[in-house]
Amino acid sequence: MTDELGLCFGGDYNPEQWPREVWTEDVDLMVRAGVNFVTVGVWSWSTIEPVPGKREFGWLDEVLDLLHGSGIAVDLATPTASPPPWLGIRHPETLPVNRDGVRLAAGSRNHYSPASAVYREHALAITRDLAGRYATHPAVRMWHVGNEYGEVDYGDEAAREFRSWLRAKYGSIAALNEAWGTAVWSQGYASFDEIVPPRAAPYLINPAQKLDFKRYSSDQLLACYRDQRDAIRAAGATQPITTNFMGFFHHVDYWSWAGDVDVVADDQYPDPASPDAPSDTALVQDLMRSLGGGRPWLLMEQAISAVSWREHNVPKSPADARLNSFQAVARGAEGVCYFQWRQARSGPERFHSALLPHAGADTDVFRGAELLGADLKRMRQVVGGRVTARVGILFDWPSWWAGEEDAVPSARLRTLEQLRRWYRVLWRHGVAAEVVRSGSELSGYDVVLVPHSYVIEPDSADALSRATAAGTLVVVGPFSGVADASTNILQGRFPVLLRHLVGVSGEEWGGLPDQPTPLAMEADWDAAPSGGGTATVIGERLRTEGAEVLARFAGGPYAGHPAITRNTHGAGTAWYLGAVLSDDLLAAVLEEALREAGVTNALGASVLPGNPLPDGLEAVRRGPALFLINHGHESARIQLPVPMSDLLTNEEVDRIAALPPRTVQVLIEGRTT
Ligand code: GLA
Repeated sequence: MTDELGLCFGGDYNPEQWPREVWTEDVDLMVRAGVNFVTVGVWSWSTIEPVPGKREFGWLDEVLDLLHGSGIAVDLATPTASPPPWLGIRHPETLPVNRDGVRLAAGSRNHYSPASAVYREHALAITRDLAGRYATHPAVRMWHVGNEYGEVDYGDEAAREFRSWLRAKYGSIAALNEAWGTAVWSQGYASFDEIVPPRAAPYLINPAQKLDFKRYSSDQLLACYRDQRDAIRAAGATQPITTNFMGFFHHVDYWSWAGDVDVVADDQYPDPASPDAPSDTALVQDLMRSLGGGRPWLLMEQAISAVSWREHNVPKSPADARLNSFQAVARGAEGVCYFQWRQARSGPERFHSALLPHAGADTDVFRGAELLGADLKRMRQVVGGRVTARVGILFDWPSWWAGEEDAVPSARLRTLEQLRRWYRVLWRHGVAAEVVRSGSELSGYDVVLVPHSYVIEPDSADALSRATAAGTLVVVGPFSGVADASTNILQGRFPVLLRHLVGVSGEEWGGLPDQPTPLAMEADWDAAPSGGGTATVIGERLRTEGAEVLARFAGGPYAGHPAITRNTHGAGTAWYLGAVLSDDLLAAVLEEALREAGVTNALGASVLPGNPLPDGLEAVRRGPALFLINHGHESARIQLPVPMSDLLTNEEVDRIAALPPRTVQVLIEGRTT
């Protein structure tokens, strides 16, 4: 992607928000900080097209030449995420409508309807002209389409687009009525023309209608992205084209987008006030690597200190900001960029941090940026390196959408929360993981985790069974495999399609009482955790059909019924959890599963139940490098398999790596020089 650049370092650069004389200082300071990559033009539509049809490219010519003259590569953005006010005034139908029927106004950003043909024409026209002018400009090394696609529109044009999406999907209204179960509450449709988006309604809305609207909305945004991507290519651009994802962003199914970007790019704003931020962020980074099929990805935006959009914005120390960047590099990022280069003096983001703060270059933040720029230059050996993982963790957007519908046994069961809890156990042990999409081939993994997949379709169930038969160890969490792709409940004892695999079946799901329900470990479970454990949130009334019972409910509505089971299936094993387990018990189960499957950590050591890495220490192997990142507040020491040396300091580390709080080491075998 950026071979000659090494790792990219830089951020969003918005020169149109500053007078011309500031640009020279910007570029001088960028060079000083080691910035080699900036994203230009994201918010510049009204500067380029101040009145309809006019084009003002002179300033951009100058900016690109200036950057190029200083060896700074440009990721050139199409400015289509924020149309000029005149577009909404002349064509109100380009403005989005929310679920309450309110048409949103200009004056902020993102005020466009992805379904609006007029918006799409105007966005395409400016994209064509931009790409025509700069396709071969030597500064331009990447194209950035729009920004953080995520708008959802419920207006009349969206209704029309939704209907044609449904027509293409179902073919006939009878098929739609069947899939949506419209006989319930008298919702039968006589024609597609009667269907509207799930707008504000008196009571609960048909869950299948909502699920399809989610799918449609994600596809509609993808269509907008594709319009512009194709126009850039048609103009002769040969650079990679991408847009910026937003981690586990609810409204867009990135699995269905991933094939359309040349490089996966992501914006990450972990809350420095959250104690779980390091592992939650690692999970997002593993998702980004997985979306790209293991290829390096780009951290397109992050904050060097505080953001300004939380209610209470905790800043990062320069040391913490450095850890965030190295964490991304450890997990496959080929560059770390920030929002933004120069802190805004106007507009709603005045208090959002930037590499160059209001106070200027004589600041800890800017000095931190300079240090980071220098450190990243030492990472040449890491460029292009891959992270390999023997553990897969299943996650799908439609299942997430459907699994968090209203009116379910417990609204306290949140897909992402469970995913994060399960992942945290891997993270604490320094075990690498890939996020996998349902339907993918799974037999290459030693372990596959299914924390909460409410929808499991037949191809996914087959892949899980096939992999297990071939030797993979699978762990399935509660309330998984419940429904089909239209969120209709599968009939029979659950998990219907996995029943044979897990050797256990159930007949009822229920929210568990607020007081955690005790679980009794079976006497013949050798590896039973001595601390026992409890269940909360959701439980299931289960009976075994061949599986061994490891723990039972010892109270609550399911007292005496199995809660944790293990089944042999061909050469592999399938564990089933009939409840949300307490943290310690979940850790014990997953550690035991990893140990049984022979999974090793980043240091090549076996997973030892109850014996994770020192608190806060993250260990990741990428290509030849072992990244050790101490997110904790205590020093951490760890035994290395061989003598290594630190790419950052050139110091040799003989067997014991010692990391003060908030520090990182990037170790390679032998000597660095
Ligand atoms: C997003 C946007 C940026 C900026 C940042 C602030 O990532 O893409 O333009 O608004 O948020 O955190």
